[in-house]
Amino acid sequence: MSTLRLGILASGRGSNFAAILSSIQKGKLDAEVRVLVSNKKRAGALELARENRIPDIFLSHKVYFEPEQYDAALERTLTDCGVNFVALAGYLKYLTPRIITKFKNRILNIHPALLPSFGGKGMYGSNVHKAVLERGSKVSGATVHLVDEVYDHGPIIVQQGVPVLGDDTPESLAARVLKAEHKIYSEALQYFAEDRVRIEGLRARILPNA
Ligand code: GAR
Repeated sequence: MSTLRLGILASGRGSNFAAILSSIQKGKLDAEVRVLVSNKKRAGALELARENRIPDIFLSHKVYFEPEQYDAALERTLTDCGVNFVALAGYLKYLTPRIITKFKNRILNIHPALLPSFGGKGMYGSNVHKAVLERGSKVSGATVHLVDEVYDHGPIIVQQGVPVLGDDTPESLAARVLKAEHKIYSEALQYFAEDRVRIEGLRARILPNA
């Protein structure tokens, strides 16, 4: 068991970040959040970090214009804060190979559908739920996966399905999926804290509890 030193990247309201903090506070997740980084100045996640006395850093793409420049600044921030594991919590910005290589198999993302369905470019937030409803899927859910060089693609760590109901709107489905997200993100992180994840190609094997 080794305490994860988390860097959390978020672009929005930060409810997944809040759920991770709550799991840490309840002793269900062996981690500490070293820094919250956002690419959006008004992200609720930044405010949440401040309220919890966690270093909050806004990195502007107006300052770091090129993606490589941006991720060089991001890498410096994460390194300076002693981060050894990265959690994307509604981070709607592409990560360059620089970060992915530096934190190989140490970056998790949460996606609001059951990958490999309803993932890829443009599939974020309510777009995902609209696509699920338009396709007439009867189940959706949440996926926590490792980040590799391909968007929404790396080994799946935890998934949880939820039913799609006949009268669902994108909003009602999003709310049901979000509950699952909040549950499984900490669960997936705890597997890494307990060093129970083994990667074999695209497959992640979770070792049983010792
Ligand atoms: C979450 O639903 C997350 O799954 C989604 O953004 C939302 C962020 O909410 N991420 C993606 O769509 C990534 N493709 P939050 O800011 O309340 O955690």
